[in-house]
Amino acid sequence: MDPGNSMSWIHSFLYLCLVIASVHVLNTIFISPKLALDHQNARVKRVAPLPLRFRADGTFTILQVADMHFGNGKLTRCRDVLESEFEYCSDLNTTRFLEKMIQLENPDFVAFTGDNIFGSSASDAAESLLEAFGPVMKSGIPWAAVLGNHDQESTMTREELMSFISLMDFSLSQTFPSVEETSNHNKQHPVPKIDGFGNFDLRVWGAPGSSFANSSVLNLYFLDSGDRAFVDGIWTYDWIKESQLNWLRRVSQKVQEQKLDSKESPIVSPHSTISPSLAFFHIPIPEIKQGPIYNVVGKYREWVACSLVNSGVLNTLVSMGDVKAVFIGHDHKNDFCGTLGGLWFCYGGGFGYHGYGKAGWPRRSRVILAELAKGEKSWSGVGRIKTWKRLDDEKLSKIDEQILWERRP
Ligand SMILES: *[C@@H]1O[C@H](CO)[C@@H](O)[C@H](O)[C@H]1NC(C)=O
Ligand SMILES: *[C@@H]1O[C@H](CO)[C@@H](O)[C@H](O)[C@H]1NC(C)=O
Repeated sequence: MDPGNSMSWIHSFLYLCLVIASVHVLNTIFISPKLALDHQNARVKRVAPLPLRFRADGTFTILQVADMHFGNGKLTRCRDVLESEFEYCSDLNTTRFLEKMIQLENPDFVAFTGDNIFGSSASDAAESLLEAFGPVMKSGIPWAAVLGNHDQESTMTREELMSFISLMDFSLSQTFPSVEETSNHNKQHPVPKIDGFGNFDLRVWGAPGSSFANSSVLNLYFLDSGDRAFVDGIWTYDWIKESQLNWLRRVSQKVQEQKLDSKESPIVSPHSTISPSLAFFHIPIPEIKQGPIYNVVGKYREWVACSLVNSGVLNTLVSMGDVKAVFIGHDHKNDFCGTLGGLWFCYGGGFGYHGYGKAGWPRRSRVILAELAKGEKSWSGVGRIKTWKRLDDEKLSKIDEQILWERRP
């Protein structure tokens, strides 16, 4: 045997041993602690008590938060604030505003209408979401979010974002909708093939002890209005697709049939009409831009950034009949409510400090209050829906209070 050959074989062997030993050391010290499941910290989602329902005082309050544009928390600077405000302003101002709104309005539900995080400023989507929704998770108040056009610009796809959001504490968001089988109301099955992530509906039951304690008197529809799309060689915003509108029509029909079936109340007149519904999504529909939009309350201070494609959302909503108001975001400097085809469309107004805005024009948030009508002996169905906004100033000033809908006697 050639002694030289044998020497190099021994060297190779020793080298291999060294590599294996190094990998082993690396694994024990650095890698396996990160992979190991820490059973003490493992926890499941804290679930909101369902169903949502009106309070014993006959009210149900929703806080709408539009366009938080959360980035990396305290490291992310504010946009469009006064020069004197810039130095001490970050995403934490958005967090504090949310905490203050929750404390003051004590809502029964919080609806986030998209661009919850500003993907390109968030180095880790999951961390940004956890921080952005932190105050509402801490409050224990049920909430839901839909996506805007910026949420997916970080480390998660739209589907991943929605699944993550639906697993967060007290979240009622769903990635895919479910429909009730008519034969068995407890059995739910997912609706096949529908565009987008985050199309779902929630029902709000009547006041405890009332004739409507066990039925839905207010319905909340959530739709994914997408992000961007390339149409005929032009980049434009996305739109709500036919499959989503078909699903919405089916849900609305179910909700209305349910009402016709219910023989639980002797009070016919206030509830002989369907229970009202509210819809939430991010991108405005083209009719808001085209107009004419009537009864404007609030500020219309920027061009409406909508899709070039009109998929018939307005016609669908109008023909359904149950939707009384739609709540959108996207255009931070518009905070108005106005009517189209007899239906209210309301902007939330920009909430987040990292989102664009107008320096000296406070960030803002919308509140929606549904009030039950008085029946003969107890609370009946929804009698009135109101809305107002609050500014992030010292007093959280309340502005533009208005009635959106009232049941006709
Ligand atoms: C942001 O928060 C800080 C700390 O509370 C506060 O001093 C500052 O005025 C806030 N900035 C704005 C623009 O609200
Ligand atoms: C609602 O359901 C509860 C529990 O099943 C029942 O006790 C109550 O009578 C129901 N109320 C109405 C108005 O149907």
